[in-house]
Amino acid sequence: MSANISPVRGYADVLVGLQYGDEGKAKVIDLIAGDYDIIARFNGGANAGHTIDAPAGRVVLQQVPSGVFHPHTQLYIGSGSAVNLWKLKNELDLVEAGGIDLTGRLFISDRCAVVQPAHFIIDETNSEDIGTTKNGVGPCYADRASRVRNGIRVNVQLRDLLADPDTVMAAMRASAEAELSRLAGDVQHLRERLDASITSLLDCIERVRPFVQTDRGYLGRRVAAGARVLFEGAQSLMLDVVHGDQPYVTASHTVPAYAYVGGDLSPQYHRYTIGVAKAVVSRVGNGPFPSELGAERAEAYFAAACAAGRGKAEENIDYRPEELLRSADPMDLGIALRMLTHEYGSGTGRPRRIGLLDLQQLREMVGLFGVDVVYLNKVDCLALYKESVYAGIPVRLTAETAARDGEQVRILPSFELSAVDPAAPELLPKELLAFRSVVEQEIGAPVIGVGLGPERDRTAQFFRLGEHRLQETRT
Ligand code: IMP
Repeated sequence: MSANISPVRGYADVLVGLQYGDEGKAKVIDLIAGDYDIIARFNGGANAGHTIDAPAGRVVLQQVPSGVFHPHTQLYIGSGSAVNLWKLKNELDLVEAGGIDLTGRLFISDRCAVVQPAHFIIDETNSEDIGTTKNGVGPCYADRASRVRNGIRVNVQLRDLLADPDTVMAAMRASAEAELSRLAGDVQHLRERLDASITSLLDCIERVRPFVQTDRGYLGRRVAAGARVLFEGAQSLMLDVVHGDQPYVTASHTVPAYAYVGGDLSPQYHRYTIGVAKAVVSRVGNGPFPSELGAERAEAYFAAACAAGRGKAEENIDYRPEELLRSADPMDLGIALRMLTHEYGSGTGRPRRIGLLDLQQLREMVGLFGVDVVYLNKVDCLALYKESVYAGIPVRLTAETAARDGEQVRILPSFELSAVDPAAPELLPKELLAFRSVVEQEIGAPVIGVGLGPERDRTAQFFRLGEHRLQETRT
């Protein structure tokens, strides 16, 4: 062995969603950002929506990493990301209008894939079966792999655009025109959007240029010098392009190992994998959802609602959630929980499908992807089940427990939330602590924190990473 191996001082943790997205990853990052120097994105693009309670109010960011409101953190967007420059410019404007200077804090890999007008056109006209967010992310990754189509270079990295905007923009227009010519019917609105996009692109390029990082070794050098990185996964494990259920997935890898490809860092620095789940599960978009309340009928309801553009406002007019909560029909219960727990897409406004906490699925994810600890959000929302026909907290058990105990779903005792103090986790109601124990046993990983409300101080954290011998609690 070489005697020259220098001591590894920094490290990276990877935080991923364990379900179908929207688990509250940004809220957890907000909670633990103080323990890191750099927050880094490694996959996805503007299809992600991170809701953050900023000092000046609630904001939804899509591409800028979640640590933005922690001034001591630097932010990195890795080469595995698909960058939407129009939306990124808007986000930068929004953040800087809030008094936050990103100069010297934000770095964007010049190898990121650039979302192009052709990608919006394809996603807009060809995504109904999957129910994508229509941000062009899937077609962008497809073109990254295609490289050239019909003699036109269709893979554009940020550095190509910066080096020769005119040539690249001409190629972008040509590939968008080729897509438009394939479409039947009136494409005037798409053509107008194409013109507007190309016209505004130069401005966007110049807005983003100061943040572009051309050094592929940037993150590696920082970590070797002691920086602590938190990788922020977009979307979630069940939406991974390979490990999710095709075709109802996103187009990138969401699994923790991909952080070290799309995040431009050697895996030698990996420390912990942090999973985030939520106690009332949601899925936005089509595809399998084993614990969905109302099963196929609820899926069909979701599809019809999306087709008709029905969302929160329409459901508020049509339904009384307090009544539906008591209904014996699980589909009604799902609608009630969606309304009472505000489960509508932060980017798209679509109603989210709702399901029971699925411990079988979580155990599988923890085991397959080596999740070390889990944050469980929206635990306060479980109190709503007390009013339902379950009269307690229903959870879908692992297959092993179900076979042993002869039950698929177990009803756990409910708890009173009124006097709960998240700052004193050991004093939480005994039913809540018992619930946590069942979850830990079933999924095979410690639950490090439980979310008891949307505000940043409403998470009860049982221990901090690094303070605990994790192996002892893994089963
Ligand atoms: P796409 O990533 O826009 O191509 O969408 C593919 C699928 O992933 C659709 O079901 C989307 O609803 C879902 N999806 C993409 N991003 C997110 C997210 O950030 N949260 C939840 N679902 C997402």
